[in-house]
Amino acid sequence: MSESIPATMRAVVVHGPGDYRLEQIRVPVPGPGEMLMRVEAVGVCASDLKCYHGAAKFWGDEHRPAWAEKGRTPGHEFAGTIVAGDERAFRHHNVADGDRIACEQIVPCWECRYCRMGAYWMCAPHDMFGFKGFDGAMAEYMLVPERAIAHKVSKDLAPQHAAFAEPLSCAMHAVERADIHFNDIVVIAGAGPIGLSAIAGAREKNPLKIIALDMVEEKLDLAARCGADVTFNISRVDAVQQIKDLTEGYGADVYIEATGHPSAVAQGLDLLRKLGTYVEYSVFKDQASVDWSIISDDKELNVLGAHLGPHCWPAAIKLLEDGKLPIEDICTHQFPLEKFQQALDLVGDSSGDSVKVSILPGLG
Ligand SMILES: NC(=O)c1ccc[n+]([C@@H]2O[C@H](COP(=O)([O-])OP(=O)(O)OC[C@H]3O[C@@H](n4cnc5c(N)ncnc54)[C@H](O)[C@@H]3O)[C@@H](O)[C@H]2O)c1
Ligand SMILES: [Zn+2]
Ligand SMILES: [Zn+2]
Repeated sequence: MSESIPATMRAVVVHGPGDYRLEQIRVPVPGPGEMLMRVEAVGVCASDLKCYHGAAKFWGDEHRPAWAEKGRTPGHEFAGTIVAGDERAFRHHNVADGDRIACEQIVPCWECRYCRMGAYWMCAPHDMFGFKGFDGAMAEYMLVPERAIAHKVSKDLAPQHAAFAEPLSCAMHAVERADIHFNDIVVIAGAGPIGLSAIAGAREKNPLKIIALDMVEEKLDLAARCGADVTFNISRVDAVQQIKDLTEGYGADVYIEATGHPSAVAQGLDLLRKLGTYVEYSVFKDQASVDWSIISDDKELNVLGAHLGPHCWPAAIKLLEDGKLPIEDICTHQFPLEKFQQALDLVGDSSGDSVKVSILPGLG
């Protein structure tokens, strides 16, 4: 064992929407095939906020049952150090005691039809750290089950930068879904953590032009530093017209939607050229309502969904380790565990200047 492990720890516990509490609970003891991780950093995600605010996707409504569970510790964007586990676990994950890891947020069952066909990220039971089946990382320690997928991350990165492997791999999957070609004009809507990561991922594919859209100037500055060639502030200019002007009136080849705002859906359909590709990555709080005949009769678009970051983790970790992102300026705020509520509130404050807010249990 690399370090001594206490019997109890501080952990955030979900009692229901709007009711998350910091509690003293037992440190989990790893069973056969399991590992214990000391949490170094956990990012707070837009999805954490939607769960906190009681969105139906998490807590159910008349059409669907609840998916998130009460009594869980939230937090699915994390990095930490392995402090305990048996040989079976170390061999299975190809890690050693003392290694730093980040895990994919899905904990696949490896038995359902999707898992068996290799599409583990769409696993039918859909257990996820911090939401369903397994406790997440807003705690001092976290259990890593055998079913989880762990990736080694360099200890040279700051903890919050290592934890950014999760949103980065997600956005890179959206980029892969877009099947970007060298001659493409690619528009990415939203310059939050996901949009900025999609810009960095698209830059690696090196299309002709990457255009970033947002309404916050500071985020557009970051978008340029992530690799956008052109940025448009949609509150100041008519982005659809600007993009038409840049493309001889045709429109963009690819649109990746990463805003979470329904208004960005119609915007994408409008600015794409005929036969263009639309990739949807957002999780919406409010329903988007658009004219679907644009997709069929007008433009014959390819409309694709994207979920999580399958097959992108090693590449995402490499981008971080190679220092390809302005990560110091993306990871804007770090809080100790005691101030988790402030961290949640900051992510919820859309007028605020935060990009990626993280909780570092080691700070407090
Ligand atoms: N599909 C998945 O697996 C998955 C995983 C993680 C996150 N997400 C979702 O991805 C979305 C983006 O996440 P994030 O953390 O970057 O969110 P964020 O809220 O931090 O960033 C969204 C950005 O979009 C900008 N914006 C709002 N309306 C716009 C418009 N019409 N055009 C251009 N920009 C606009 C905002 O100013 C903000 O900067 C969220 O909906 C999130 O829930 C999906
Ligand atoms: Zn997330
Ligand atoms: Zn499965």
